[in-house]
This record gives sequence, structure tokens and C-alpha cells, in this order.
Amino acid sequence: METYDVIIIGAGPGGYVCAIRAEQLGLKAALVEKDAALGGTCLNVGCIPSKALLESSELFHQARHGLSVHGIEPASVKLNLPQMMARKGSIVKELTDGIAILMKKNKVTVIKGTGTLKAPGRVAVSGAEGEREIASKAVVLATGSVPVQLPFLPFDGVRVVTSTEALAFDQVPQSLVVIGAGAIGLEMGSVWNRLGAKVTVVELLPRVAPFADAQMSTLLERALKAQGMVFKLNCKVNGASVEGEKVTVSFQNDKGEAESLQCDRLLVAVGRRPNSGAAGLKEAGVELEEAGRVKVDGRFQTNLPGVYAIGDLIRGPMLAHKAGEEGVALAEILAGKPGYVNYDAVPNVVYTHPELACVGLTEEQCKQQGIPVKTGKFYFKANARAKSLGSEEGMTKVIAHAETDRVLGIHIVGPRASDMIAEAVAVLEFGGSAEDIGRICHAHPTLSEVLKEAALNVDKRAIHG
Ligand code: NAI
Repeated sequence: METYDVIIIGAGPGGYVCAIRAEQLGLKAALVEKDAALGGTCLNVGCIPSKALLESSELFHQARHGLSVHGIEPASVKLNLPQMMARKGSIVKELTDGIAILMKKNKVTVIKGTGTLKAPGRVAVSGAEGEREIASKAVVLATGSVPVQLPFLPFDGVRVVTSTEALAFDQVPQSLVVIGAGAIGLEMGSVWNRLGAKVTVVELLPRVAPFADAQMSTLLERALKAQGMVFKLNCKVNGASVEGEKVTVSFQNDKGEAESLQCDRLLVAVGRRPNSGAAGLKEAGVELEEAGRVKVDGRFQTNLPGVYAIGDLIRGPMLAHKAGEEGVALAEILAGKPGYVNYDAVPNVVYTHPELACVGLTEEQCKQQGIPVKTGKFYFKANARAKSLGSEEGMTKVIAHAETDRVLGIHIVGPRASDMIAEAVAVLEFGGSAEDIGRICHAHPTLSEVLKEAALNVDKRAIHG
């Protein structure tokens, strides 16, 4: 029987990163993947194609509505949706092919087929060439997550869809209803809103991006509303029916009254659940905890010896970069090193326009935990670079401990917040203070100066506002 030091089931950003790190550390790694392309949800039907469409749709929106202020008057702007989709497809292909090249370069053995955990140390792989069994000291489960389906609203892939289909509509729907104002709802809602659909987002909770700092949710909601998106907050969807080409969604509105909406397409984006029904986990006796997550200890080990799990399958936010960090940490642990993930410094980004990015605690969480804080804010409209970009919406908020000045959380709604958050993560990681950020020299004119000014404002001493 073929034997390895580690067999990883699932080639998403958790699994393939774990395989590379394992080989770097001298462990012989096999990566088992059932899909033709490597990269998992993130590369194939998640983070990457959505970012491609967000960029294209934003350019389309800008070409139609944002250029005349620059003195550019395009004669006509026409949407070529097949080309937009083709560009998305080629970006995905280049990146997934790139992962295959990385596997070769790092000498990871890629085994195409469906992996099933038979017992600790034993995995069966069934693929085009039949079934075979492989063995290893360690097995890593990295099978990711799948979209949550509402019990009364089964996905049909055409009218009632997940993000996978919403990334590939062949025409712009006249009307799109999105259930859930989380990352997927806001991003995919933005794409189709910019391309001309009438988009209504129905959300159970009283605000959009409920995981974010409340003030940031409000800012983002306001910006998206100004772009034409409609939000029905505090609304509980309780039924839907498909008739011909129309879907009717019924819900209880914020006043407790029955309301309904009709649309061409309905995107259900109410979260994802761990893919713990796959790879024979249950049959092999892997213990699950709340919401079907695989229970692991501090070293990612399940209740079965030598069987580990990472990424969306286990605790914590379902984010590609969190899975990747866990993949690295686990490979290091398996190689006898002290692998570790700092969950307090995992950033979260929503790629709308403006973008929302945050790391650490929100003001509400600090309050709930009784932590005394002081906050500093700074608006993008007072930043020279944001003004030149024509992207002045939003603000940055720095939350620091009231007594020690240590940074506890940084929240940004604004242009390129996704890139700006890296500095905030570094400060949190190094246990830095607001004073530290305020004293770092930031290039001028850059968007990053907003973070510096917000940090200075923790002690009410921003220079430009
Ligand atoms: P989510 O958990 O981010 O948001 C789901 C939203 O649906 C929540 O606001 C929730 O209150 C609402 N909801 C739940 N049940 C509802 C109901 N019956 N009626 C109305 N609203 C309801 O989940 P989402 O957006 O589906 O994303 C899934 C996962 O993928 C998340 O963990 C997310 O972080 C991740 N993701 C991350 C992205 C990023 O980092 N930019 C992009 C897309 C997804």
C-alpha cells in the first residue's frame, strides 16, 4: 500500500497550503481531491470569481456613472456579460492551474478522486481508475463547507440559487432578491445591482454585515442604499414559491406584518455549514460538535488519534485565510514544531464598494466584556488620496484599551479597506498601541494616512481633522 507521512482530504486553501508546508518541512504529503480543479470553493466558486465580477461590475458602474466628473464622457457604455464571465473564468483557470504547478514544485502527490476516511491512518480513494487505499501516520480533513439551505426553500439551481449559480447567471436578472446580508449577500447583491438588476436584500437581523462593528454596518448600509440596493432588515423569511419564471418570497417585516416580494432570481445566502457529511467522517466515528463542526483540540486533532481537521470544518470564521493559517500551523505541529494560529488577529473583509474590513474586537464586544475603551475615528473625505481617487465614503475607527492604549480592534469602511487592514493586523499581532500607529511615518498622500489619523484621534490629536 502507498504510504505517506500525511494524507490531506480536500484541496481548498486549507488543504493545499497544509500540503505545501508539510513538504517544505520534509513530510511526504498526498492531497486527495474529488474535483477536477484544485483550489476548493475559494478559487473555483467563491472568493476569486466573486472578486473578478466585483471588479468588472464596478468598472461598468464607474463607466456609466463615475467618469464625467473626471472630464471623461464615454460615447456609450455597453455590457458584454459573456466576456465578463469569460474573464472571470480565465482568472479562475490561471489560478487553479497555478496551484497544480505549486503542487508539482513542492513534490506534493495529488490524487484525483473522492477520499473516504476508513480508520485512523487509512484513506480509500475512489476515482476514474477505481478504488484504492492509501495509508499515512496523519490524516487531515479539509473538506470545507457547503451553503445552508432553508428548510422550506430547496435550491433548484435556476430560480432559487446559491452563490455558485449567482456567479454565473447568463443574463442580468431584472429583479434579484437576496436572503441574508452577510458577505455573500452584500457582494453578490452589489455585482448584480451594478449590472442593472433591482436588488432587495432581506435580512433577519437589524443590520447588514451583522458581525461588524455597528457603526460600520450603518455606514456600509447607507453607501449601498445610495447605490440603489434595497434592504429589508429585521425580516424573517417564512416561505417562497416558484411559478414559471418568477419566485415569490414571503416574510414577516420589521413591524411583524406579512409581506412578499416577487423576483426573477432568489439568492439564498444565509451562511454555510461544515461539509462534515463528506469523506466518511461520521462513519469513521469523528466526533462533531455544535452546528456539525468537527470537534478538535488545540492541535487540530479530532477524537480519533492521528486524524486532524482544519478550515471551515472546525470552529472559527469560515474564511480562506483562516483555513490557510491552520494548514500551516498543523503541518508545523506534525513536523514537531510549535504551529499556532492567533484567532484574535484574523481579519474579515467584505469586498463591496466601499469595502468593509475589520480585525479584533468591535465596540459592542468590548462593552459586553466590560473592557474600558477609547476610540479614534477619521473620515476618508478628509484624506487627500481618497479625494483624488473620487472615493471619499467611509471611515476608520481604532479601538484601544482606555488605560493601556493597546489596540483591541480596527474597523474600516472605505476604499481599498481590504489592503489597509493588513497594517491593523500587524499592529494587533505585535500587541501595538494606538500611539504606535500614530508615530509610524505613513507615505503621503495615501489612504493609509486615515488609519494613522484615526489612531492619533484616540487621544483627540489628529492633524487633519
Ligand atoms: P454569513 O453568515 O456571512 O451571513 C448570513 C446572513 O444571513 C446573516 O446576516 C444572517 O443573519 C442572515 N440570515 C440567516 N438566516 C436568515 C433568514 N432565515 N432570513 C434572513 N436572513 C437570514 O453567510 P454568507 O454570506 O452566506 O457567507 C457564508 C460564509 O462564507 C461566511 O462565513 C462568510 O464569512 C464566508 N464568505 C466570506 C467572504 C469574504 O471574506 N469576503 C465572501 C463570501 C463568503
